[in-house]
Amino acid sequence: MKDRVIVITGASAGIGAALARLVSSKGARVVLVARREEALRTVASSCAGETLVIAADVTVRADVERARDAAMARFGRIDVWVNNAGRGISRMPSELTDADLDEMFLVNVKSALYGMQAVLPHLEARGDGQVINVSSLLGRVPMATFRSAYSAAKHALNALTASTRCEVRSRAPGVHVTSVHPGIVATEFGSNALHGGVDSRTMPGAQTADEVAQVLADAIEHPRADVYTRPEAQGMIVRYYAAEDMGAAETQPPFFSARRPGA
Ligand SMILES: NC(=O)c1ccc[n+]([C@@H]2O[C@H](COP(=O)([O-])OP(=O)(O)OC[C@H]3O[C@@H](n4cnc5c(N)ncnc54)[C@H](OP(=O)(O)O)[C@@H]3O)[C@@H](O)[C@H]2O)c1
Repeated sequence: MKDRVIVITGASAGIGAALARLVSSKGARVVLVARREEALRTVASSCAGETLVIAADVTVRADVERARDAAMARFGRIDVWVNNAGRGISRMPSELTDADLDEMFLVNVKSALYGMQAVLPHLEARGDGQVINVSSLLGRVPMATFRSAYSAAKHALNALTASTRCEVRSRAPGVHVTSVHPGIVATEFGSNALHGGVDSRTMPGAQTADEVAQVLADAIEHPRADVYTRPEAQGMIVRYYAAEDMGAAETQPPFFSARRPGA
């Protein structure tokens, strides 16, 4: 971790801020990217080592490329790029509008594509480095019907991540492309969701952002393809896909949650 240059999008709050503080405490140089510059500066001031703050909207490709260029100008290299910025939604499938879907795919899928396309040529030219895309358990299983469009977007992100990994592996086997799948995390994610929603910090069983940051840091120190922030999550997903009757499985906890939390 020492001296590695790690770019983290969505670093002004939640998981991204926790990761910035953690990897910085381990000696990394951290590039913090998000829209709210003041919040980024507050996070940077709580980091132990060298930081660079870049105010950028990751749904704008030119902003993402500007963030890459600023990181390269300052540090001369990028070792790890974490596409962590993302947003939820609270709407049933029957209620979704075109604008809802566009927003979910823009902030959760296109933003990560912009990040990967911006940094991978640099990593591939060097022959090492890593991209991490922060996905979700909802990118694997339909555990929350009211997050349907978010779940669809994270499924798409997982597909894009896996296909990118296969493409990059043939040209640059030393470059890693990783998906990380948190469950519920106690951040402002719930209250920031499109159309509002319950604060994730009040939801039972939530992991802390610091716990998730530990898993992300471990995925940087020991790169692998697919990582769950809870050890039991992978088995649960395997059970769902292996179920003889997937429809029946969906009617049982933990897969079925048609109601919005609190509704
Ligand atoms: N919390 C959970 O329960 C949970 C569960 C599974 C997966 N995840 C995933 O974990 C990641 C981080 O979420 P979190 O829980 O830390 O949420 P959060 O507390 O709401 O933080 C979201 C971060 O993303 C940034 N962001 C949002 N839109 C952006 C944009 N257009 N451009 C640049 N930055 C943007 C925000 O900063 P600005 O507002 O300053 O731009 C903020 O730093 C997301 O990908 C989320 O899908 C979260």
